[in-house]
Amino acid sequence: MIESVHAREILDSRGRPTVEVEVAVSGGAHAAASVPAGASRGRHEAVELRDGDAARYRGLGVRRAVANVNEILGPAVVGLDAQDQAAVDAALIAADGSADKSNLGANALLGVSLASARAAAVAAGVPLWRHLGSAAARVLPVPMVNLVSGGLHAGRQVDFQDFLIVPVGASTFAEAMAMAANVRESAADLLAERGLSVLKADEGGFAPALESNRAAVELVVASIERAGYEPGEDVALAIDVAASHFFDGRYRLEAENLTLDAAGLVQLLDDWLAGYPIVSLEDVLDEDDWAGWASEGSRLTSKVQVIGDDLFATDLARLERGAADGVANSILVKMNQVGTLSETLAVVSAAQRLGYGTVVSARSGETEDPFIADLAVAVNAGQIKIGSLAQSERLAKYNQLLRIEEALGDDAVYPGRDALRR
Ligand code: PGA
Ligand code: ZN
Repeated sequence: MIESVHAREILDSRGRPTVEVEVAVSGGAHAAASVPAGASRGRHEAVELRDGDAARYRGLGVRRAVANVNEILGPAVVGLDAQDQAAVDAALIAADGSADKSNLGANALLGVSLASARAAAVAAGVPLWRHLGSAAARVLPVPMVNLVSGGLHAGRQVDFQDFLIVPVGASTFAEAMAMAANVRESAADLLAERGLSVLKADEGGFAPALESNRAAVELVVASIERAGYEPGEDVALAIDVAASHFFDGRYRLEAENLTLDAAGLVQLLDDWLAGYPIVSLEDVLDEDDWAGWASEGSRLTSKVQVIGDDLFATDLARLERGAADGVANSILVKMNQVGTLSETLAVVSAAQRLGYGTVVSARSGETEDPFIADLAVAVNAGQIKIGSLAQSERLAKYNQLLRIEEALGDDAVYPGRDALRR
């Protein structure tokens, strides 16, 4: 039974405020969880409550969300059984009362939801991934590791947001980490040789001043080769286009000096598929361009994994609409886009039922909380996107996956290429 709930304001990896919640249950178990924050947020995400007091953290304080936990959400769940996550989350949703969690804040609700789940795991004496998952939980996620950043995470050095590596040829998660680290070191060597910056963007990826989006793709391929791997066989490429963030009726690629319509942008990506070993594309069109997604996007879904992030916003209704229209074939899963653990689990189940790939994802603003690592294994998501192999808010998740793989021992499965939808 939940005995007490307490929230406080802490700082995320960008040095901006976020919510941390502690939950204590009867019997003495207690646990904390904290909430991430996006920068390239989708229009359809649940509402993150910020104070708006310009004199403090430029308006980004979360004291109102914290007060909402301490004064409203906490009292709403005290007395409930933390083992019954659905009941806890239903009480949070009812206390908020809005469709988009704008009354009390998705950041307030999610903090309580996650801390309650973790306290329940502690009380049960099992690791979080076992508590959240069934006995079938044993799939380590294939990581999409950020190598080069652009878009809103890197001062728009290039237009596309993430250029990632996917260690499809590894046989274990631990090997995947070693391979990704090798490629990252090689990328740093190449950048240094070319006199380019190795300064890091929000998720720890490099943000060099490259002349084009294509140059970023070529840098990734060269880095894979330089590390001694075969591009596509050992380590493949993925791109988060994050197209909503350079869409204004048309798609504007500053780096290429091109203005394209949906057909033109899809054609550009399709050409890249022929020339580079790309296995996954995310948010290739604007989040509200359903017509473009259905007509043009389908050219890509027949060839590679196509993920909806801003497009689906971890929202069941948007996923179901997309599935009905044959839009994309995979979903990015971000708990704070929807605001509770139970709703996240429902979206993952629906995606798996609909044959959509599932990629559990961090946000560009993160804390040291490794919750998503446990979540990815618990639901056998198959894939995870955390950022680069840098910065402790990213490594906390990667390291947790290394621990889980060790704990699973011979039962652990690393799916490699099979995890990716095609
Ligand atoms: P965000 O970016 O956390 O800034 O929204 C992550 C992504 O777009 O995948
Ligand atoms: Zn994205």
